[in-house]
Amino acid sequence: MNIIEGIRTVEELEVENKRVFVRVDFNVPMDDGRITDDTRIREALPTIEVLRAKGAKVVLASHLGRPKPGKHDGLSMVPAGERLAELADVEVHVPENCIGKTAQKVIFDLRPGQVCLLENLRFHEEEEKNDEGFARELASLADAYVCDAFGALHRAHASVHALPRLFRDRAAGLLVMKEIRSLGRLLEATERPYVAILGGAKVSDKIAVIEALMERCDAILIGGAMANTFLAAKGLNMQRSLVEHDKLPLARTLLEKAAARRIDFLLPTDLVVGESVKSTEGRLVAAADVPEGMSALDIGPDTVARYAAKTADAGLVFWNGPMGLFEQAAFSRGTFGLATALTESKAFTVVGGGDSAAAVHAAGGNLAAKFGHISTGGGASLELIEGKKLPGIEALRP
Ligand code: 3PG
Repeated sequence: MNIIEGIRTVEELEVENKRVFVRVDFNVPMDDGRITDDTRIREALPTIEVLRAKGAKVVLASHLGRPKPGKHDGLSMVPAGERLAELADVEVHVPENCIGKTAQKVIFDLRPGQVCLLENLRFHEEEEKNDEGFARELASLADAYVCDAFGALHRAHASVHALPRLFRDRAAGLLVMKEIRSLGRLLEATERPYVAILGGAKVSDKIAVIEALMERCDAILIGGAMANTFLAAKGLNMQRSLVEHDKLPLARTLLEKAAARRIDFLLPTDLVVGESVKSTEGRLVAAADVPEGMSALDIGPDTVARYAAKTADAGLVFWNGPMGLFEQAAFSRGTFGLATALTESKAFTVVGGGDSAAAVHAAGGNLAAKFGHISTGGGASLELIEGKKLPGIEALRP
């Protein structure tokens, strides 16, 4: 089933001289007030450009981080507004509150084709509570609604869920359409073999997605710290590696399920170990021989080669979660090696947001451009693949 069937797109809206509220996901990584990755802002540009070209007054809004109630925690949208202004070559006004008089004044002064970015929606607790009153205040600022916040579609929050229902004219933006089209291929799973690669720290974060993937995939390849829990479940001594001891029975059950369904469930055969996450040097060992006092922090070259061979002739590959501590050069080869191998695969390759997308960008060499699709959503892409209904999509339906 096409999950966006019947939903209008931004291109179908008549917006000339109208105020259009555009929910974007500018929840970008920041370091000391500086944006470290502006992909999410860049990916919103096509929708913004379509609206400007049609003569709309563009009212952008997003959340940033998870501010504590009543605190702003350095999470203002101003740096995102400045970056957008550079990228789109347009002046971007940022009123200091997303509702009330200051927002109304800035929006009232907008001329067709002009843009403003409201302050962080989460500075109001009502946003995460999906509060109707807050949604009505936001609705009073615009004539039409566009959702282009793919990364936030899984959140039943006011600007994503309660708000769109208050507009007769509501539509999906171009980023949302692109994401759903690409990730939809993973749900249809007609291209075979279908190989999923899962990494990251915890099995517990990925249980639902592993179970959903087992319904559709031919092979599941595991890396990152979560591989340690599976290796420990098979009886290997992982020494000081991160292992979720309370998840060992679950890991055994998943291994049994995979075997019963004849899914290739691959685990690392070699690992790069270090004394701690701060180590600057790694040591290559067999997965069965992690030395005392050491932690597994990356997959080794033999594992990369096995995983690369599995994906070379695949029809579809989904990758979520790094294979190791890629932020440290000594433990980055597994993740970067796999990223390179995936660009050589014949498959339609999809990277599922968050850390794995950051890893592909960090790998350099213009690797990112060689993937079929790199999602801007972490949690949203996983929930979509699990087959869950996304509140932000449901609210756009006619
Ligand atoms: C994300 O980064 O995954 C989205 O922007 C959602 O953010 P959240 O997990 O804080 O709701």
